[in-house]
Amino acid sequence: MAATAVRCLLMAAAVLAPLFAGSEGAFLSSKFYDRRCPSLQTIVRSAMAQAVAAEPRMGASILRLFFHDCFVNGCDASILLDDTANFTGEKNAGPNANSVRGYDVIDTIKAQVEAACKATVSCADIVALAARDSVNLLGGPTWAVQLGRRDARNASQSAANSNLPSAGSSLAGLIATFGSKGLSARDMTALSGAHTIGQARCATFRDRIYNDTNVDAKFAALRKQTCPQTGGDATLAPIDVSTPTWFDTTYFENLANKQGLFHSDQELYNGGSQDVMVRVYMRNPDIFAADFAKAMGKMGSLMPSADTPTEIRLDCKKIN
Ligand code: HEM
Repeated sequence: MAATAVRCLLMAAAVLAPLFAGSEGAFLSSKFYDRRCPSLQTIVRSAMAQAVAAEPRMGASILRLFFHDCFVNGCDASILLDDTANFTGEKNAGPNANSVRGYDVIDTIKAQVEAACKATVSCADIVALAARDSVNLLGGPTWAVQLGRRDARNASQSAANSNLPSAGSSLAGLIATFGSKGLSARDMTALSGAHTIGQARCATFRDRIYNDTNVDAKFAALRKQTCPQTGGDATLAPIDVSTPTWFDTTYFENLANKQGLFHSDQELYNGGSQDVMVRVYMRNPDIFAADFAKAMGKMGSLMPSADTPTEIRLDCKKIN
């Protein structure tokens, strides 16, 4: 009798789960696709392995894509929607335009996933898995991704313009921005460790190398070689000066050496509340790995508001 009751409850939960997936963190499960799409995680992993082998930076780009999706009305793949004649999305918002990349990789994975499991897996879940695999393929930790997100049928360019932190942010500003998403200062510092991989455009760090006083002189001189005071806005430099395609803790060492590339990076180690965490992560890669994985899980559970219309998009670039 008791077993039957438990079975009924489980069945009811399975039926109702999609209805609740639109509200904060509800009913996500690492087993969500175990029966619905058993090959999902293998498909994503091998496609990301190929993409990263072809271009290691792609791992960084996909990780950032996930961050920029989650911070704007939750992890709902809204960032993937193309602008159309009567729809303005997030791709061309200030922090994303000519900057966020990897959309084609997500489209390739989605096509493979659709071929294996039609109309079953959300684009938002594909991005979450691809971000996790990116980190791991570049030498970082791995973790079980909570799944069951749904894709938004709308996007907000204005939210993308206002919700994402900029390279000029102060420590107080960063703590407030992440705090508004339910992420602690410690989560923020751990997540900033993502800047151990990837590249940035001169325009985003020019002020730092020409105007900041807490910058290592040799490092600033090195970056000035390819980032002039005027022009060259799009010229790239590695964010981590020593190992830009390896997910390690050198980012935090760089901060301790005043070699953070962005003003916002160096704010984490400038005599403020996060100095202690920077030193902890720098000396304890295991603590960083555990905190990063945990904070990615928290960031990944940001959901669109319950009244956001959602679906399982068939093509990540457009609503069904
Ligand atoms: C703490 C606040 C943050 C600020 C102010 C910030 C700012 C930036 C900026 C300005 C760039 C360069 C963009 C360009 O050149 O166009 C960048 C790149 C990047 N960011 Fe952040 N970011 C922050 C947090 C994060 C988080 C939380 C993640 C992921 C968990 C992340 C992952 C990355 C990655 C991987 C890149 C390199 C992307 C590539 O090479 O394509 N960032 N970030």
